[in-house]
Amino acid sequence: MNDIYIINTHSHVNMLRETNIDEAVQNAIDNKIVTIVPSSTAEDIFETDKFIQKYNGVYGYVGVFPEEVKTFTDKTLSDMEEIIKHNPKIIGIGEVGLDYYWDKSFKELQKEVFIKQIEFANQMNLPLNIHSREAHLDTLEILKKYNKNSTAILHCFSGSLEFAKECIKEGIYIALGGVVTFKNAKKTKDVAKNIPLEYLLLETDDPYLAPAPFRGKENQPMYVKYVAEEIANLRGISTEEIAQISTENAKKVFKNIEF
Ligand code: NI
Repeated sequence: MNDIYIINTHSHVNMLRETNIDEAVQNAIDNKIVTIVPSSTAEDIFETDKFIQKYNGVYGYVGVFPEEVKTFTDKTLSDMEEIIKHNPKIIGIGEVGLDYYWDKSFKELQKEVFIKQIEFANQMNLPLNIHSREAHLDTLEILKKYNKNSTAILHCFSGSLEFAKECIKEGIYIALGGVVTFKNAKKTKDVAKNIPLEYLLLETDDPYLAPAPFRGKENQPMYVKYVAEEIANLRGISTEEIAQISTENAKKVFKNIEF
């Protein structure tokens, strides 16, 4: 396992509270885990930019999260462009998307900002890291209509196997995290077991959703190993194979990643 890298495609390691951040990054590096950190608001794209420059093996996305679209202004896209131009470690746009779970009162604004960020990703020729919660159909419909040339990743995929297959038909990648290790996560286990492996990516979404041995505790990037292990068990293959295949996939999606 030791000579195989794992790409953790979604980790808010900059948001850890109980774990020392430098230590969590070091743990990831020691375990040959490359981490990609998303942005959430129009302001914290600057924080992501600074944060990822501090560490080797840590990359980032710029983007505005669906619940934070009210922070998006006329200036946001040019700010993102500026950051992308000076920082080659920004390797995608994220996390962007739709979330109807918490607050449905600004669905239209969420859609509008999602579309603008898809078009921006297309212009920049960068992949999209997408958050979709209770909004699967709208997310897919918008991607089909507006996404021309960016590879899309559905982060923390929570749909059914049938929906995963529908997304894969559109060339969308499926990123799985700690949820797949939860005993009652039948739907996600079914997805992990049955999707074509060429569309699988791994993540943690830490500090949230720690995998089974640590469930309820603070998550961290290195726990992506437990996600790989669970998927390997479900499919009856080795963890090394899952690590290797998902890393090959990630290298295809993130052309600017180097390690
Ligand atoms: Ni996230």
